[in-house]
Amino acid sequence: MEFIMIQPLKLCPSILSADFSRLGEDVVRLERAGADMIHIDVMDGGFVPNITVGPPVIKSLRKLTALPFDVHLMIERPERHLAAFADAGADILTVHAESCTHLSRTLAGIRSLGMTPSVALNPHTPVEFVQWVLGDVGMLLVMTVNPGFGGQMFIGAMYDKIRAVRAMAESAGLPLDIEVDGGACAENIGRIVQAGANVIVAGSAVFRAADMGAELESYRVEARAASASGT
Ligand code: DX5
Ligand code: ZN
Repeated sequence: MEFIMIQPLKLCPSILSADFSRLGEDVVRLERAGADMIHIDVMDGGFVPNITVGPPVIKSLRKLTALPFDVHLMIERPERHLAAFADAGADILTVHAESCTHLSRTLAGIRSLGMTPSVALNPHTPVEFVQWVLGDVGMLLVMTVNPGFGGQMFIGAMYDKIRAVRAMAESAGLPLDIEVDGGACAENIGRIVQAGANVIVAGSAVFRAADMGAELESYRVEARAASASGT
């Protein structure tokens, strides 16, 4: 079964593949290239093997763009840091289901701080992990690589998982944003959208493109073609 895209497509480049010595310039380049949001990967060296940036860096970037910040927390016990990310300027705050003992409470905390709550699922995590918090989120993130690094291959089994998450949201009557993160590029964006996702994170594919604007536009073209052709 394929889904007709009802939620608007949002392209959300990840700055994980940016030149961190020129992070501000890269964020401005992404905005000029037509990004809808900026995806910021926060890693703690515990939940995932890599370490990246935290609230001070996000706060500095906040001054450079009005685009929404989609902050993806790959950290243990994220509930300890919600206020710091709100203060830094996060708009959407994604926590991993696997790192939250009291997921529902953490999502309520995110909402009470004025951010949109979102939950990410690692590739092996069953979709049922979010079944009873669907009403507490604005977005669900399906990891299509094992989190920690950019530039990995999209895991093909995740198309069915995207479908399962979209079906779950639809049967609950909730028009949720469904985000895909990892290995997205022009070649697979059509299938990703047909499976039911509408928010696309792309890191390495965007940063290795000679023309970021043309790259993002090619995603829009592919997504439009796929949603027009498939039901
Ligand atoms: C991986 C991160 C992703 C990463 C995606 O753990 O969550 O956001 O930047 O990078 P690509 O698009 O290169 O797979
Ligand atoms: Zn991410």
